[in-house]
Amino acid sequence: MAVTRDIVVSKDGPSGAGGPSSAGGTPPVVEVRGITKRFGSVLALRGADLALYPGEILGLVGDNGAGKSTLVNIISGALAPNGGEIFVGGEKVHIGSPLDARRYGIETVYQDLALAPDLSVWANVFLGRERIVRGPMRLFGWLDRRAMASEAREQLDRTRIRIDSVDALVGKLSGGQRQAVAVGRSAAWGSRVLLLDEPTAALGVEQQERVGELVRSIAAQGLPVLLISHNLPQVHELCSRVAVMFQGRVIATLKPSESGIDEIVSWITGAALVARKPE
Ligand SMILES: Nc1ncnc2c1ncn2[C@@H]1O[C@H](COP(=O)(O)OP(=O)(O)O)[C@@H](O)[C@H]1O
Ligand SMILES: [Mg+2]
Repeated sequence: MAVTRDIVVSKDGPSGAGGPSSAGGTPPVVEVRGITKRFGSVLALRGADLALYPGEILGLVGDNGAGKSTLVNIISGALAPNGGEIFVGGEKVHIGSPLDARRYGIETVYQDLALAPDLSVWANVFLGRERIVRGPMRLFGWLDRRAMASEAREQLDRTRIRIDSVDALVGKLSGGQRQAVAVGRSAAWGSRVLLLDEPTAALGVEQQERVGELVRSIAAQGLPVLLISHNLPQVHELCSRVAVMFQGRVIATLKPSESGIDEIVSWITGAALVARKPE
């Protein structure tokens, strides 16, 4: 659809998608410009722009295949883009791996949660970041279990996650609790931004609401959240802005206070693009 090319609407705050973003206002915490990504013959991203500002919950919506996960995977270092730029705190950066992204304070919860079911809650919180106690002359090292368990408890409490015991095996938790552990773990480590790829897709209504509350409390504590979700009523209620992806680009950024769910849907389906087609 050729019309997608040049139409980008923005009713949002500090900047429109793709424009210079820090002019006069707060710079975005994380921003991407003109990201392209090709998988063989599929052009998954064709110049995607997105900016996330301090303290906000930014929704990222779009039909299946629109490119949402690919964009998040590029910001989180899981995929390398073919083109485009990434800025963290206003500085251009190269994110070459998930570890790079973590170093920039970017934490991601993927759809599969990436939890280890045979490990305890605290071990999952510290997965890949284990605390080691060194023996005399640093000859031996062992895991500092007590410190990790109590810190995990504090971290989860801070995100108001209710888990009876951090010693419980993750495999024994309910879907909602697992989701909470995955989100809480990332929130605990993320210092700049939390990226959530469909955190409620597999959950029941009540559990979805819990995750929603969790996202709200995380943002309220100052960590901006990028929330990919198909749950439009929830996105509309939770998010300060909603970016809509269509065929590999962010074609509109809307404020729920000004745009209803119908309008968001009309951008998701591309109907709004046709309606706005110039000439
Ligand atoms: N690893 C991959 N290999 C080939 N094609 C892919 C891969 N990942 C995504 N794609 C394609 O890229 C496009 C965007 O996919 P994706 O980012 O998963 O969309 P969304 O998350 O919005 O549903 C789709 O056409 C999808 O089939
Ligand atoms: Mg996806």
